[in-house]
Amino acid sequence: MNNFPKDFLWGGATAADQYEGAYNQANKSLSASDILPLAGNGRKWALDHPLEAAKKDYGFYPARQGIDGYNHWKEDLDLFAEMGFSVYRMSVSWPRVFPELGMEEANEEGLKYYDKVISYARELGMEIIMTIDHFDTPLWATKAFNGWIDRRMMDEFLKLSKTLFLRYKDQIKYWITFNEINALLNYPLFAGGIDISKCENPLEARYQAAHNQLVASAKAVTLGHEINPNFMIGSMIAGVVNYPNTPYPNDALEAQETTRKSYFFPDVQARGYYPLYAKRLFEENNIEIQIEDGDLEALKKGTVDFVSFSYYSSSDVSTDSRIKARKTAGNFSPATSNNDGGTVTWDAENTVNNPYLESSSWGWAIDPVGLRYLMNDIYDRFQKPIMIVENGLGEHDVLTEDGHVHDNYRIRYMSEHIEQMGLAIRDGVECLGYTMWGPIDIIANSTGEMSKRYGFIYVDRDNDGNGTNNRIRKDSFEWYKQVISSNGEDLYFDI
Ligand code: BG6
Repeated sequence: MNNFPKDFLWGGATAADQYEGAYNQANKSLSASDILPLAGNGRKWALDHPLEAAKKDYGFYPARQGIDGYNHWKEDLDLFAEMGFSVYRMSVSWPRVFPELGMEEANEEGLKYYDKVISYARELGMEIIMTIDHFDTPLWATKAFNGWIDRRMMDEFLKLSKTLFLRYKDQIKYWITFNEINALLNYPLFAGGIDISKCENPLEARYQAAHNQLVASAKAVTLGHEINPNFMIGSMIAGVVNYPNTPYPNDALEAQETTRKSYFFPDVQARGYYPLYAKRLFEENNIEIQIEDGDLEALKKGTVDFVSFSYYSSSDVSTDSRIKARKTAGNFSPATSNNDGGTVTWDAENTVNNPYLESSSWGWAIDPVGLRYLMNDIYDRFQKPIMIVENGLGEHDVLTEDGHVHDNYRIRYMSEHIEQMGLAIRDGVECLGYTMWGPIDIIANSTGEMSKRYGFIYVDRDNDGNGTNNRIRKDSFEWYKQVISSNGEDLYFDI
């Protein structure tokens, strides 16, 4: 029995600042990621002190070149089409579309690049899921406003949204306002353009930025629906599964509280009002949010059409200090390679190793069942269609002398997750699609490394930017093609 609906969307996802490169072409200005060095060279410090980092010369900046998608997009889309993609999730580079603060009109040169990509993807039969802001805040926003702490960012974001909605209203149906909006709590530069070292009350700053983004997101939803009532506009978080480490009730409570820090965002975006638990959270942390007239009405009016999330890994939460001493890494934990990368969520200090799970080479726990759990949890909570817009395995791949990449570990990871996704759909979850991360090797967001590869397509490029940028099909390429052509039924692989 096939669990996937006939019109299920299969594809992959990339982000402009990890893919495009061409950081100074077509009038693009710098984004936050363009000033960050590779992990091992002070990346973590730069993430927390971007204004000072911007004055330094790190020599090599991975995001400035990406994988040169700006000049390879056609070839890449052809390869995606060869795998049978019916959807491609992408983002625009905000500073390519609006290179300067206060521009009335968008940068036509920059938009022309997106025109080409979108038209060709549509020609190849793909839907587009467009993420308006995928960790790509322009550096001018950090310099002028300290990012989203300042509500003037709302107008800038709405200007960007309106430009894209109007230009692509007949080509794009699916939109996501902010990538992993919950990452604001731990990734203030990427998710909010914020130099956190300049904030007196860093937690309040994060939640003020969150409020501003939530209102801007709701206004964008309302605006988008006015422009095209058929638009499906969604929220997106870094998906969190927090298991209590033991049946000790405090562990369960801690796991619930940790999860709520992330659900806080879609709670507002999908329901249209602040969750009740926010009151206590704000009071106990001396957080006073500036809410202006009309904000709460805007939240109520602009609720999202679907809820989407990334899922890589689960966390195991403990309140026992002896157990907590045994740290784990992961998308939700502090340790990444060299301990010099970014992290997505803030509450990592309470997560520990889960003895039932294996981990990736970057220490991210591999938990396919967690995906089924999360899909059910999110669907139960919001009762809106969901989408899995990121999921994948970052690993070291080896290119053999005769030009192959035998990535059976990736095939295993993907097949186990897709199987669980199918089971969640059988559980009753309405899931519209799956865009794995990232179908082609791109630079890693947390560390800037090229060696952390997720793709079905290998890119000949190393951590220092050397290589031809040639694209090579890995073993997993043929496997994903088989998965898509069988609508998720044929997950077989031979190892
Ligand atoms: C998500 C981001 O947090 O995780 C992506 O939305 C990112 O941009 C992905 O690339 C995987 O993380 P990393 O650090 O391995 O690239």
